[in-house]
Amino acid sequence: MTDGQLIDEALRARELSYSPYSSYQVGAALLCADGKVFTGCNIENAAYGPSNCAERTAFFKAVSEGILEFKKIAIVGSPKGEVTQYAFPCGVCRQVMMEFCNPKEFQIIVAKGTEDYKVFYLQELLPEGFGPGNLKQL
Ligand code: THU
Repeated sequence: MTDGQLIDEALRARELSYSPYSSYQVGAALLCADGKVFTGCNIENAAYGPSNCAERTAFFKAVSEGILEFKKIAIVGSPKGEVTQYAFPCGVCRQVMMEFCNPKEFQIIVAKGTEDYKVFYLQELLPEGFGPGNLKQL
């Protein structure tokens, strides 16, 4: 699976975005260690608070199917229409990634298109993150 293919999956997932309140459409595609891909879109709610980001939708779909090892995630987000910006994951989604991923290895791809993207390690977007390792007594 190339980065371009993963971005393409995220672009397709974005088409399913349920975002009648913000009209900000996000799609994500999560590549698992076993090669499977789980996609997600943002899902909003009239009560606002229960809304879920595309990245967490993808993670929770995977974890709920027993998958716990991940390689990278592609994210495409922009106001309705063409993707005109790089959409970085919100703080809550970065923390969810921290729960399941090695911050030195997990890659976050923010894309405007299959050939226009940037790649970061989780460590760069969540430096000194708090994770499951902190709860273990050294
Ligand atoms: N959103 C995401 O899906 N991912 C992010 O990382 C940032 C924000 C969604 C949540 C909400 O539905 C809309 O974008 C506007 O905040």
